Amino acid sequence: MNYRSLTTFLNLFIFATYSVCAQDLSRISIIPEPVQLVRNEGSFVLPEEVVLKAPASTEVNQTIILLRKKIGEVAGSRITTTNREEQATLRLILNTIQDTLLKNEGYQLVVTPRNISIRANRPAGLFYGVQSLLQLFPKEIEGDKLVRNIRWQIPCVSVTDYPRFGWRGLMFDVSRHFFTKEEVKRYIDNMVKFKYNLLHLHLTDDEGWRIQIKSFPKLTEVGAWRVNKVGYFGTFSAPTANEPKDYGGFYTQEDIRELIQYAAERYVNIMPEIDVPGHSLATVVSYPELSCTPGVEKYSVRSGEAIMDWSRGAPPIALVDNTLCPANEKVYEFLDKVISEVAALFPFEYIHMGGDEAPHNFWEKTPEIKQLMQQQGLKTMQEVQGYFTKRVEAIVQSKGKKFIGWDEILDGGPSKSTAVMSWRGVEGGIKAANAGHEVVMSPSTYAYLDYMQGDVSIEPRVYASLRLNKAYQFDPAADISDPRFIKGGQANLWTEQIYNTRHAEYMLWPRALAIAESVWTPLNKKNWTNFYTKVEEQFKRFEVAEIKYAPSMYDPIISVSGGANNSITVELTTEIPGLDIYYSFDNSFPDTFYPRYKAPISIPKDAANLKIVTYRDKKQVGRMITASVADLKARIRKR
Ligand code: ACM
Repeated sequence: MNYRSLTTFLNLFIFATYSVCAQDLSRISIIPEPVQLVRNEGSFVLPEEVVLKAPASTEVNQTIILLRKKIGEVAGSRITTTNREEQATLRLILNTIQDTLLKNEGYQLVVTPRNISIRANRPAGLFYGVQSLLQLFPKEIEGDKLVRNIRWQIPCVSVTDYPRFGWRGLMFDVSRHFFTKEEVKRYIDNMVKFKYNLLHLHLTDDEGWRIQIKSFPKLTEVGAWRVNKVGYFGTFSAPTANEPKDYGGFYTQEDIRELIQYAAERYVNIMPEIDVPGHSLATVVSYPELSCTPGVEKYSVRSGEAIMDWSRGAPPIALVDNTLCPANEKVYEFLDKVISEVAALFPFEYIHMGGDEAPHNFWEKTPEIKQLMQQQGLKTMQEVQGYFTKRVEAIVQSKGKKFIGWDEILDGGPSKSTAVMSWRGVEGGIKAANAGHEVVMSPSTYAYLDYMQGDVSIEPRVYASLRLNKAYQFDPAADISDPRFIKGGQANLWTEQIYNTRHAEYMLWPRALAIAESVWTPLNKKNWTNFYTKVEEQFKRFEVAEIKYAPSMYDPIISVSGGANNSITVELTTEIPGLDIYYSFDNSFPDTFYPRYKAPISIPKDAANLKIVTYRDKKQVGRMITASVADLKARIRKR
């Protein structure tokens, strides 16, 4: 018996041994759910030596590095290579004849008891095939050190998979809080596991300008730094002259090039956003001449103090003028230079120029804007903003790029080649698609990952909520008559209340899994029950990978209603089935010996706190929640 047949024999022997062992291989848990997945008989056991056959293209380098890391360093197999397909245990194959179904990002993954093969038309498909393959391995594969005493056994499957949408985005707001280059890389590492391919970097806002612009050095010398505050962002005291402005940071152009390359090697495009004409306090603080309001030189980059009054809805009333002046030619000269540098750095075809939430109340008081309105025949402030948008659009196009902005840009009647990112629900996106614009759906109603994912009594407080099951209902093409205009969908992670990467991860996961499945998986393959079960498997993998996630789906949903004689009734439901809710009103910690919730409960007259916790099969799964009766009462008044 030669060495090869010996290993084959041993494999078969090991397979026979393992196939009677207790490990449950019946649960396959790939997120996003593949287009077609067939579970075949048997399993593959990683041999001591894995013989790899892979294309010579440098474009697959990161895929091979990833395989070497996981199968070599973590699972501990010795990886050798071969040019002979029939000798290989692990085969990555680029199709010579294109498979029309798979297009640029699809793959076929076949695992048999003897070998693993991944086929694709393009290197991106091989990368995604490997991501799916790794999710078939035991969770220990998610670590970064050698794990011994594990049976590296995976189920035999045939998978054919390709994305529903070409734009599968995640936005990272690096302005409200700055995240380092290394932190952005980790963000990319995590998003690609779930086949996201677009990173939207929100690079500028009132709280910081984060990209070096060589023609305007003060943007980062001044605009990237502010006074550090913690607490509830939006309520902080205004920065004073004696507080150090040493909190923040920015990416040099070299950093940006490095990030673009890092992302590209993982099949991710980076789209820059320069948000204008609103959200520009850091800009006007750096260059006050870009404002048309006298006195802005006294402003500071925002630390989180109130600068907008939203009580009358959108657009907000600005308490400080955080806009660029549309009647000032210097603004267009400035933007021309900034966009030139940005266009030269980022290979992606679109530049996002914001356009959202620009307040108009300072413009209304500006003589130069009155003059502009007369000259241009503009009747409203919306039309003034439309004029600005069209000029910026022309600048972007003059650099050979396409313009994309938040759905407010529709007011200006942008040209057909301009794309719209719908955030105020899906309405703007539907209107834009009907008018023949390309659209990316990122509605706050399904895809705003800065919102709370559970009850305010346990989650860090934010002004709105978005639970996992709602995020999972995201369908970028719902109610669209011609889905060809829908480029895809995106989740947005705004970071006003996110001070560090651990909390960024908590806010991303698991909701970014729901969005990943919504932009990749065909609608008829989406299934909530299957999904949350896979999420539970994924939680175990996150723990191994030391990625923080929110366990909020295990916590109850609290609804309060008022009745006669000031009575208050609390209704408790759960996001996932099979949970038992236990509660107390006596300030002690409920467990399975306490009353189990069966029907809406009335709050006893003098009770101060409702404590709630969920169990499954007598094991605590939810967190201990304390909701004060005063807080519950306030919820009724709000309605
Ligand atoms: C946005 O959330 N203001 C786009």
